[in-house]
Amino acid sequence: MTEKRVTFASKIGIVAAAAGSAVGLGNIWRFPSQTADSGGALFILVYIGCILFFGIPLMMSEFIIGRGSRANSAGAFHKLAPGTQWKWVGRLGVLTGFVIMGFYMVVCGWTLDYVLQALTGGLHNITDFSANFNNLRSNPLRQTGWMILFTLMTAFFILSGVKKGIEQSSKIMMPILFLLLIILALRSVLLDGSSAGLAFLFRPDPTHLKPTLFLDAMGQAFFSLSIGMGCMITYGSYFNNTNFTQTAVQVSFLDTLVAILSGIIIFPSAFALTSNPDTITEELVAGGPGLLFITLPELFNQMPLSAIWGSLFFCLLALAALTSSISLMEVVTLYIHEEYQFTRKRSTLLVATGVILLGIGSSFSSDLFNLMDLVSAKVMLPLGGFFISLFVGWYLDQKMVAAQITNEGTIRLGIGFLKAYIFLLRYIAPLAILAVFIYGLVG
Ligand code: PHE
Repeated sequence: MTEKRVTFASKIGIVAAAAGSAVGLGNIWRFPSQTADSGGALFILVYIGCILFFGIPLMMSEFIIGRGSRANSAGAFHKLAPGTQWKWVGRLGVLTGFVIMGFYMVVCGWTLDYVLQALTGGLHNITDFSANFNNLRSNPLRQTGWMILFTLMTAFFILSGVKKGIEQSSKIMMPILFLLLIILALRSVLLDGSSAGLAFLFRPDPTHLKPTLFLDAMGQAFFSLSIGMGCMITYGSYFNNTNFTQTAVQVSFLDTLVAILSGIIIFPSAFALTSNPDTITEELVAGGPGLLFITLPELFNQMPLSAIWGSLFFCLLALAALTSSISLMEVVTLYIHEEYQFTRKRSTLLVATGVILLGIGSSFSSDLFNLMDLVSAKVMLPLGGFFISLFVGWYLDQKMVAAQITNEGTIRLGIGFLKAYIFLLRYIAPLAILAVFIYGLVG
């Protein structure tokens, strides 16, 4: 490589970029539909457990691998473990990124379609929101068009470079999105009849316990934090002097907050606005991946100036999706650029073409769409996370791990912190991931 490797400019930039990757459709679209599917509060509880026990430590591990090697996700294992088979973990991650993009870009396309519907005022005059969503879902060409547009937008940002593209857009977009989510959450809980929705979210009901709940929650945690596939390895490779523990905690906190806020927006309004309260939970499950696109427009119609709220929300959602899709595409592009010595431009074009082909597949077949969602979140990411925790826990030199976490000894950590961290990576995380995985498969 002849070019000098760029890095993110500032500490805020680092958090913004990592949070920009984490916060996306996973929080606002996927989290509510998974929560609905798994019956509410219990799922959220397990989900938060997963964030604390696997999410934060694994995000730190990816940062360590990334900054410790300054390479793409496969190259990183190559450099840190030359001559071993660990590089397959990186390659698995690249493949995972590809599979995720195969359906993620389609959902990104939906957000653009809704931006247009909101801006032209169409969304505002609709009475049957589920039929409106199903119209889109049953029109593969319309979805393909938007998916291609979104993929090209992502590719454009990838080509305009790391700093300008990722850092700037995240820094501006995140705070505005956050504010809007708070306003919508308030509106939602102030609706008459919203309290049943809040209870669904926050009062665990043991009858909702099902064997797959743990795997669903774990998969969602990995997906939402962008871990288990080398995305944070790739971003970590652009980090300078930053405190990994702090960054991982901040990013995970923001990410979880956005997910919970999305739940507070969707569920209370779904319970308040339904015409059949008796069948609301079945209705939520039936909404499936469309939940966000069905319930939210209904909430906007309860607000004054609904067209404006709708336009603003879907624009910000598309931007949040963009900062995540950029991070996904960056993983695969950097891999091809560094490992095969293609120029950045050629690598990007190659990746975008592949993604568009997969995206066409999942626009035309909802089975393929669901399969890619399921396999990536519930099989590939946990598998990646499993190996990453073993790699940092067992393979890497503990002195190197300590040096990375403490920035060469400049950050003071409580006694035992490092020991506890390594213990978690060696035993707890891998065993728990394995147990949840097996239980989810046989349960
Ligand atoms: N975390 C992103 C979201 O919540 C999706 C993503 C997954 C991005 C894996 C990068 C890697 O939308």
